[in-house]
Amino acid sequence: MMKKLLVVTLSLALIMFFGVSNVQADYEVELTIAGGAVGEEYETTVKAAEMYMEENPDVYVEVIDTPDSADERMSLYLSFFEAQSPEVDVYQIDVIWPGELEDHLLDLNEYGAQDYVDEHFDHIIENNTNVDGELVVMPWFTDAGLLYYRQDLLDEYDLDVPETWSELEEYAGIIMDGEREENPDFEGFVWQGDAYEGLTCNFLEWIASNNGGSIISPEGEITILNDQAQEMLEKAAGWVGDISPAGATNMMEEDARAIWHDGNAAFMRNWPYAYSLSMETDAFDPEDFGVAPLPAGEEGEPAGALGGWNLGVSEYSEHPEEAADLALFMASEEVQKMRATDASLNPTIDHLYEDEEVLEANPFFEELYDVFVSAEPRPSTIAGDNYSAVSSIVYSEAHSVLTGEQDALTALEYMELEIQDLTGFELGQP
Ligand code: GLC
Repeated sequence: MMKKLLVVTLSLALIMFFGVSNVQADYEVELTIAGGAVGEEYETTVKAAEMYMEENPDVYVEVIDTPDSADERMSLYLSFFEAQSPEVDVYQIDVIWPGELEDHLLDLNEYGAQDYVDEHFDHIIENNTNVDGELVVMPWFTDAGLLYYRQDLLDEYDLDVPETWSELEEYAGIIMDGEREENPDFEGFVWQGDAYEGLTCNFLEWIASNNGGSIISPEGEITILNDQAQEMLEKAAGWVGDISPAGATNMMEEDARAIWHDGNAAFMRNWPYAYSLSMETDAFDPEDFGVAPLPAGEEGEPAGALGGWNLGVSEYSEHPEEAADLALFMASEEVQKMRATDASLNPTIDHLYEDEEVLEANPFFEELYDVFVSAEPRPSTIAGDNYSAVSSIVYSEAHSVLTGEQDALTALEYMELEIQDLTGFELGQP
């Protein structure tokens, strides 16, 4: 008996010991996907990778997470691309990047993507297709800037969901003054004011919703120097240290969400991913918060920046066929549905906005459908290769106004000048 047990234990140990290296050897192909880790992105990508491996036992998929800041993620990718590194096979690519990264990514139409493109939103497919008709990246999830609000606090202070930036300012102030009597950490409005891509999104929302244009018009005129943009930039600078934390100028998505999540903010500007996590906080009940279109200027219409991520296959992958297959699986209806229900990541497949389970988890996908399909694009298509440099000019100058180093008019004049130097585009008005 004892002997038998020993043999069993020994063979188990042998399996466990050799198992690891045997497992690796058993795989014909190993793929690496580089993805985001904001909110629950990483967990759902790992889950999707496991789903893929179950269907493809010959393939091992490793998921590596990348920096939260889009700019830092871009720098990391460029270091891989410049080295023509085969290390990463599939990359998570921002909606603003196809123009800048197309030379490093394969045409997915050559790997069967055309069978699926019709299911996806046209505007994203168009965004992801280059002038030669190549599909540079496959849509994965879409994003639009939204206003999160605390319904319980609006009720308590007898206020409505704000529809203009002035209302937001006023209501945030009223709630904050009241709440601070008990809770010194309470903030009126949290958003993304650090000097990075997220600030370009917030800035675009302020100005576009106040008839201040979209920095560069789709026709290629630089329209940033105008009174409506100046008015909003001044307004936002006034929020810092008032209805928003003094540290707002160092905040990215997860920083804003942390304050909101702890029940310490009346309003938050964020992307849809924050919804499923807000359902799980202990600081307030699920029925105590809501999401709405962002406020607008007095004469304008709300504008949520178009965000979102796609999947591209590296030109330098040693397994292009398999990598493309993985990218198409990741972007498939099955995975998009899982990521939508688990993590409120908005599908790019239109009919999932009518799917019962998706809507049960995210009723706002239906209510705010128009916000998602008509979100305000950043000027990445027209700026092409120059987009990241344009955006860096925009967020650096805007940031200097938020921190009080520079006035809004001077910052907009610099933006115009620097963007013109860079692109050679004509000047215009929105
Ligand atoms: C979100 C958006 C992305 C944007 C980024 C900025 O991840 O989906 O498009 O560039 O936020 O922080």
